[in-house]
Amino acid sequence: VMVEKQGFKHFMLKEIYEQPGVVRACLEAYFDGDWTAADAAIDKPPTHLGLPPDLFANLQQIEIVACGTSWHAGLVGKYLLEQLAGVTTTVHYASECRYAPPPIAPNTLIIGVTQSGETADTLAALEMEKKRRSGFDQNPELLPRLLGITNRPESSLGNLVASIIDTHAGIEIGVAATKTFVAQVMAFYALAIDLTYRRQAKSPEQLEQMLVGLRQLPAHMELVLESQERYIEELAHDFAETQDFIFLGRGINFPIALEGALKLKEISYIHAEGYPAGEMKHGPIALLDAKVPVVTIAMPGSVFEKVLSNAQEARARDARLIGVTPMDEQDAADTFDTLIPVPHIDEMLSPILTVIPLQLLAYHIAARRGLDVDQPRNLAKSVTVE
Ligand code: G6P
Repeated sequence: VMVEKQGFKHFMLKEIYEQPGVVRACLEAYFDGDWTAADAAIDKPPTHLGLPPDLFANLQQIEIVACGTSWHAGLVGKYLLEQLAGVTTTVHYASECRYAPPPIAPNTLIIGVTQSGETADTLAALEMEKKRRSGFDQNPELLPRLLGITNRPESSLGNLVASIIDTHAGIEIGVAATKTFVAQVMAFYALAIDLTYRRQAKSPEQLEQMLVGLRQLPAHMELVLESQERYIEELAHDFAETQDFIFLGRGINFPIALEGALKLKEISYIHAEGYPAGEMKHGPIALLDAKVPVVTIAMPGSVFEKVLSNAQEARARDARLIGVTPMDEQDAADTFDTLIPVPHIDEMLSPILTVIPLQLLAYHIAARRGLDVDQPRNLAKSVTVE
């Protein structure tokens, strides 16, 4: 398939703009489009992932293995699987897990997340799990249960694991992952909602409300793209000389802080750290001064005030505070020097929106520096060696 830039300066920017469409495709593929709470009474599930029920029988825990951006999607997944479905979930770097796997526990679902389906470390970690868990025919609850989340079902991953969630993002050319990340997070919403429904961990009404929110995401994403891109392009001018960035978030937006920092490192070669905002006082605050901008994701919900007060600690060190936060929140407006507004939305769904300004910020800083955004130095789209 010949993929073109269609008037965009780089594939990465085109792929950022494709994200609302990708979310629509995922909604279509994973969810029952007109499911309501009443359907629970006739046991009609909200999702149709087509996964075999034995993957989930007596499920006790979930292990996620991945690398890079896919690992960040895994962290969002952990939040959803634990906070919605109530399943204990651990997230492992594949390169670490393959040499120091967790003890074999019963009834464990192992999820490999890999956009390409070809990342050597991720494949090796899954092969290792498959091998060490085989031969337990006397003890079937220890047998491997493997699930892959990938944008390439026909890949090596597809050959290795029997069950796949296809992320439907279309081919991604830019080395820095954008639309495939958003699609992986959508796959985790679907999986978490599927499990929540099976385990009756939330009421049907709560699930219906989440589905309504998910269906509104593409329009919200379009709004962020339309209203913020020019502004972020302008904002990028301010960072021509900047050498370090800090990204802060908490809860479900902590992995988005990590992802924002990774995007910036990958394509603009600026040193950046993502931190859970409450940990800043235990070390990274020592880095702060007027030359280090701090980008904070602050969405109303369980940790809003906490994040704002963490950001204020950074202000006391003269750092420039940039907030990704809803427009109409006065406390946030008072806290940040610069606002990147996003729509008001359920905190649980917010990563799909909050990641967009961070992708655009990384993109425009790199493009402004004249860097090769789609082919950054030293990086490969997929790393097929250890
Ligand atoms: C490479 C890419 C990253 C990607 C990582 C994992 O390092 O440059 O963008 O996140 O591999 O790739 P995967 O295909 O396994 O998701």
